[in-house]
Amino acid sequence: MSDRAGTGGAARPFLYVVVCAAGVAEGVVGLIDAARGRGWEVGVIATPVAMGGFFDTDAVEARTGRPIRSAWRTPGEPRPFPAPDAVVVAPATFNTINKWAAGLADTLAVATLCEASGLGVPVAVLPCVGEALASHPAYRESLARLRGMGVRFGDPHAGNTGDAAQSGGRPEFGWERALDLVQRR
Ligand SMILES: Cc1cc2nc3c(=O)[nH]c(=O)nc-3n(C[C@H](O)[C@H](O)[C@H](O)COP(=O)(O)O)c2cc1C
Repeated sequence: MSDRAGTGGAARPFLYVVVCAAGVAEGVVGLIDAARGRGWEVGVIATPVAMGGFFDTDAVEARTGRPIRSAWRTPGEPRPFPAPDAVVVAPATFNTINKWAAGLADTLAVATLCEASGLGVPVAVLPCVGEALASHPAYRESLARLRGMGVRFGDPHAGNTGDAAQSGGRPEFGWERALDLVQRR
């Protein structure tokens, strides 16, 4: 199942940014800019749902200089990204967090996350999950399981799932917290 390059070799440390289909995903370009400013080279892996209009894919590819990955490569294709030095998931949805904790690797994004902990690299998550969803017992168990695997969590973000996205007053999504977490010793 492994789909990472075994060679590394990037001059700068390589950061995987996994993007899920939450309303705040449109802000991921700011995370990429901040990561590059801190010396990371960035490759983006998005869930298939996130690729359907949740963020500006052209802007992301222009900044990273690499195609966004969302589907598995074919067996004959070279691995497009070097191995990661760190992985961040931002924003992380209820769906992806639960699948990751359960080991249900049905998208490249979740498969990458399932593998990341075993690589021994720092993994940080910025959940964007509304309070009603976050009260589901499966979600609480998923967080406990992932924390037990050493995954680093930012503060929960209530997020939104529809019209609330348009309303004012929602808190800022603290994108750079993900970078602080992976750089923490
Ligand atoms: C406009 C919009 C905003 C959404 N925001 C969120 C969100 O903040 N958090 C969340 O868990 N799901 C949110 N969803 C639902 C997810 O997109 C949905 O559960 C999807 O299956 C997640 O797929 P993924 O985890 O593979 O990215 C939103 C859906 C829409 C249409």
